[in-house]
Amino acid sequence: MTACPPVKVTARGAERWKQGHPWIYRSDVAEEPDKTPGIVPVTDRKGKFLGQALYSPRSEIRLRLLTRGQEPIVAQWWTQRIAAAAGRRNGIAASAWRVVHAEGDALPSLVIDKYGPWIVAQLLSAGLETARADIIAGITAALDPEGILLRNDAAIRRHEGLPEEVVLASGQVPEVVEVLEDSVKYLAAPWSGQKTGAFLDQRENRALVGRQTKPGGRALDLFTYHGSFALHLARQAKEVLAVDQSTDALARGAENARLNAIDNIEWREANTFDLLRDLERLREQFDTIALDPPAFAKTKANLERAVAGYKEVNLRAMKILAPGGVLFTSSCSYHVSRDIFNAMLADAARDSGRRIQLLAATGASSDHPELLNVPETGYLKGVLLRAIG
Ligand SMILES: C[S@@+](CC[C@H](N)C(=O)[O-])C[C@H]1O[C@@H](n2cnc3c(N)ncnc32)[C@H](O)[C@@H]1O
Repeated sequence: MTACPPVKVTARGAERWKQGHPWIYRSDVAEEPDKTPGIVPVTDRKGKFLGQALYSPRSEIRLRLLTRGQEPIVAQWWTQRIAAAAGRRNGIAASAWRVVHAEGDALPSLVIDKYGPWIVAQLLSAGLETARADIIAGITAALDPEGILLRNDAAIRRHEGLPEEVVLASGQVPEVVEVLEDSVKYLAAPWSGQKTGAFLDQRENRALVGRQTKPGGRALDLFTYHGSFALHLARQAKEVLAVDQSTDALARGAENARLNAIDNIEWREANTFDLLRDLERLREQFDTIALDPPAFAKTKANLERAVAGYKEVNLRAMKILAPGGVLFTSSCSYHVSRDIFNAMLADAARDSGRRIQLLAATGASSDHPELLNVPETGYLKGVLLRAIG
């Protein structure tokens, strides 16, 4: 066990761990003798040992449970946990996938994504940062990568008092990596792309949309980024309109189309809200639509405005669906719960005047597992809809 003095928690703090949630907040910490981040033993007020946790003295989330045991948390410990998480992910039909989904894999604040032989990781808490050398050793032993890049430029690190930085931790990692996903190829950018270089969480939804695309029909990919949904749509549809407001993302989308010898995608730089209004006015119709906006609700405070935004884009998308057309729609805002999302869609369907069937409700890909009792691990909601009237 670590030598540092224990952090003591209140009965309510201890109860959270009992209930299966790994976080203990500042208000439930009774004594923190040494305000230095690290891996600390945790006890109740009377000194009864409860577990070992990542300790972040500057964060509202003070403690993140690592283990209820007293075993030493050294490189070997990380190797075993990372190898176990990798072992749970069998048969993924892609060369890029998530090896460790933080709390979802009982490794709080640690994200490890694999892009072929390269690893892109994120250390998202101050406690975890102190174990950086052991974690790099653990990744190396468990996954034997050609290089490890730390995409530690996530804004959440600010709340932990940590710098936002991109650091090569070992070997080499290229600027651009070719990913093969369900027989579609695309280029990911580990050093500069969003998240760790691509939106791996939508992988299974992209395959689902690909299967639902009307052969020979007209398709629309809203918020396309580098075309990940559009490439799947383009294999079935006659023509695809792919829309984003980022010039750089669209340029990479066009490159991805060339990589797949796909020539039926039109890349259009536009604000989705404006474009949808124009498409509706022009009475355009689409047989398949993918709608994958960024998180409109970054905080609870702007939830109402965010839901209004989601409703607007969904309502307009429903209106331009061809009869029998299919819409895949999603929200990656954690604060928009599944209930709120479904209620918003029901409102939009009512206002659209269409009859809309619910074909499937999905979440993130299975390599981004949701842990029951930890709602924060289940941020992505997807819904597949069909207009029958
Ligand atoms: C969640 S990402 C889309 C990910 C993509 N569907 C994928 O699977 O890889 C959101 C994208 O929306 C774009 N975006 C954000 N606001 C927009 C707007 N108002 N109009 C058009 N694009 C927007 C961003 O540039 C970003 O590329």
